[in-house]
Amino acid sequence: MKYIEDINIDNKKVILRLDLNVTIKDNVIMDDTKIVKAIPTIKYILNKNCNVLIMSHLGKIKTDEDLEKNSLRIVSSRLEELLGEKINFINKTRGNELETSIIQNRITLMENTRYEDLNNKAESKCDDELSKYWSSLGEVFINDAFGTTHRKHASNYGIKKYLPSAYGFLINEEIIGLSPIIENVERPFVVVMGGAKVDDKVQLISSLLDECDYLLVGGGIANTFLKAKGYNVGSSLYSVDYVANIKELVDKYNDKIWIPVDVVVKEDYEVKNINLEEIKSNSTIYDIGKETSDIYKEILSKANTIFVNGTMGLYEEAEYRNGTESLYKNLDGLNATIIAGGGDAVASVKKLGYENSFDFLSTGGGATLEYISDKKISCFDE
Ligand code: 3PG
Repeated sequence: MKYIEDINIDNKKVILRLDLNVTIKDNVIMDDTKIVKAIPTIKYILNKNCNVLIMSHLGKIKTDEDLEKNSLRIVSSRLEELLGEKINFINKTRGNELETSIIQNRITLMENTRYEDLNNKAESKCDDELSKYWSSLGEVFINDAFGTTHRKHASNYGIKKYLPSAYGFLINEEIIGLSPIIENVERPFVVVMGGAKVDDKVQLISSLLDECDYLLVGGGIANTFLKAKGYNVGSSLYSVDYVANIKELVDKYNDKIWIPVDVVVKEDYEVKNINLEEIKSNSTIYDIGKETSDIYKEILSKANTIFVNGTMGLYEEAEYRNGTESLYKNLDGLNATIIAGGGDAVASVKKLGYENSFDFLSTGGGATLEYISDKKISCFDE
C-alpha cells in the first residue's frame, strides 16, 4: 500500500478524497471530528506547493429534495476556519468552473459527490465516464476517506484507475489504531452494536459473528432483533425487510447475540422503563432499559477487546441517554482494549465526555465493521 509520503506530489494538481460526511442539524455541524482529522493530509499537500481539489460525499442523494440539505457548503466554512485559508467552494460536480478552479486556487472543495447519484447513480455505481472525468481534473489522486473505504464508488475507487495514487495520513492512523480488533484479537471480543442503519449492517453481522464472542445489540437496530424474536415493538421503527434474515442469525448464534430485556419507551406523553411484555401498540422505544445495561455491564467486564459501533438510544435527548451513558461509564477503567467507530458513536462519546474510556476512536462505522468481518477493505482492491 502506498501512502502520500511514498510518491512525488510536488507542484502537482492533487485530487483528495475525504470523508466529510458529518451530521448537520439546523445548519449546525453536530461533531466535526472527521473534518479535524482531515487537516494533516491537506496541510501536507499544500506544503508541497500543490493545488488541491477536495471531494467528499454527504448523506445519501435519492431525489432532488435531498440536494440542498446535503450540500457541503457548511462543511466548507468549517474547513476554512480550521485551515485558516480561503477555500473556493464549487456548488457543482462538473463543468468549467470546477475545471478551472483547481488551476487557479490553492484549495477547491467540490459539491457532494453523491449529487451525481441523480445521474443514474453514477457515483455509487462507480460509473467509468464519471471516474475518468473527475480524474482528468488532476495529476495525482490521494484517498484519505477512511469512513467510505467499504464502498467502491467513482470518487474513492474509480478515479485511482486513471491517476497515480496513494492513501493519506488518516487512513494510515486508522489502520494502526484498529489493529487490536483485526489481528491477534485478544478474547473474549465483544462487539456492541447500536444506531439505526440495520440495512447497511445486516450483510456484515453474519461474518462479524464468526469473529466476535458476544454481540450486544441496542439502539434502533435492536427493534428489528426484538421483532425477529417475536416481540411487539409497538410504534417503533424497524426494518421489515430484514426480520427474516435477523431471525436466522438469532437462531444460529443464540449463544452470542444479546438483545435488550427491557426498554425505555414513550407512550403518549409518558417516558418509562418497561419490560418487553409490557410494550403496547402506542409505545415507541428510544433506549435500552436499566436491566439490559446491567446485563451488558457484566458481559463487558469479562472482555479483553471491545468495539462499540452506534449508540444505545436517542442519546441527544436527556431522557433517552442512560443506555448510552451507562455503557460508556461501565467501559471506563476496564482492563481491555476499547475502540469506538462511526460518526454517531464518536459524536456521543465526545458529547457525553467519555473519551478517556476509549483507546481509539475511529471515523469508520460501516468501514470498520467490514474491516473486522472480512479482514480486508473493499476500496483497497486493485
Ligand atoms: C459513514 O458515515 O459511515 C461514512 O461516511 C459512510 O457513509 P455512507 O454509509 O453513507 O456510505
